[in-house]
Amino acid sequence: MSCLFSPIKLREETLANRIVMSPMCQYMAKEDGFATGWHLVHLASRAVGGVGLVLVEATAVEPRGRISDGDLGLWSDNHIKPLERIVKAVHDLGGKIGIQLAHAGRKSESRAGIPVAPSPIPFDEGYRTPHELSEGEIQEIQERFAEAAQRALRAGFDVIEVHAAHGYLISEFLSPAANKRTDRYGGSTENRARFLRETINAVRSVWPKERPLFVRISASDYTLDCMTLEETLRLLGCLKSEAVDVWDISSGGIVPTGLQPVAIGAYPGYQIPYASRIKRELGLITMAVGLISSPELAEYTLQAGNADLIALGRELLRNPYWPLSAASALGEEIPWPKPYERAK
Ligand SMILES: Cc1cc2nc3c(=O)[nH]c(=O)nc-3n(C[C@H](O)[C@H](O)[C@H](O)COP(=O)(O)O)c2cc1C
Repeated sequence: MSCLFSPIKLREETLANRIVMSPMCQYMAKEDGFATGWHLVHLASRAVGGVGLVLVEATAVEPRGRISDGDLGLWSDNHIKPLERIVKAVHDLGGKIGIQLAHAGRKSESRAGIPVAPSPIPFDEGYRTPHELSEGEIQEIQERFAEAAQRALRAGFDVIEVHAAHGYLISEFLSPAANKRTDRYGGSTENRARFLRETINAVRSVWPKERPLFVRISASDYTLDCMTLEETLRLLGCLKSEAVDVWDISSGGIVPTGLQPVAIGAYPGYQIPYASRIKRELGLITMAVGLISSPELAEYTLQAGNADLIALGRELLRNPYWPLSAASALGEEIPWPKPYERAK
């Protein structure tokens, strides 16, 4: 049997295969962050296509934490119902579904309020200067993450992913490129990891022990002295915690595109080496993502022990049924949805 189509058990949840749809903002939420029919069709289609785990886009834990006003939110009980409908649809199709909980920090372009950040430094010329969070405000945001996690549980999600990548709020705390604080949330690696550690603990305290928790990080900022892979390894060393089941390894987003001192070589599988080093050196379960389109590359990544799960983004936008054709390319017999069997 191929690795790609072998099941994986994470806590009490079993995913039918190793293929995950990477979280992708659709900019199709109703005003105030409500899920729409678009989200239902978009997410359920990938379950029809045989994806082992579908991840819902970055979903804001408070209004000013949205990247754009078209993003989903989970800051009120009213957001639960439309998401519950999507969860039910995916479950009825035999799939599993998770939600990425997020706060955009200084990269928020929402009109909901002044963006917030570890330090009052705008992301780029076109962005607003963020408000520097006090320790009390940090704790309030962590409570918002925990409340959103409780709502995700009520909606029936199987997995939560905490978004700590791409230069959004948690990533801003992790990276010295955005975090210039001199209190216990800035400076040393351990201090910069504190916001993430406390957020993980806050989410875990309300998320059942039977359900997996994923965390997405940027393994590199493409800088020479901020979040290099070596620094990420140190940081994960401080964070290494029983609470997190899967580390979803992405990169970039803290420094505006084109201004990174280190070139991003975006070739097929370019982020896999990060997932691989983190898995090998720290013994963590990792998910690889980034320009993985061919079944052979996905299978090789797993067989070589470079990652445990494979997330696909744009390839699944191009082809929601990618797992069905990938199975055939790898010589696997997987069940097709009954109404589609004549196309097999
Ligand atoms: C339209 C679009 C929206 C995205 N939104 C998110 C998001 O909400 N959260 C996130 O962590 N990454 C987001 N990403 C990044 C993807 O999850 C993925 O990491 C990236 O596209 C690389 O994978 P790919 O080459 O398979 O597309 C987005 C990417 C795209 C193309």
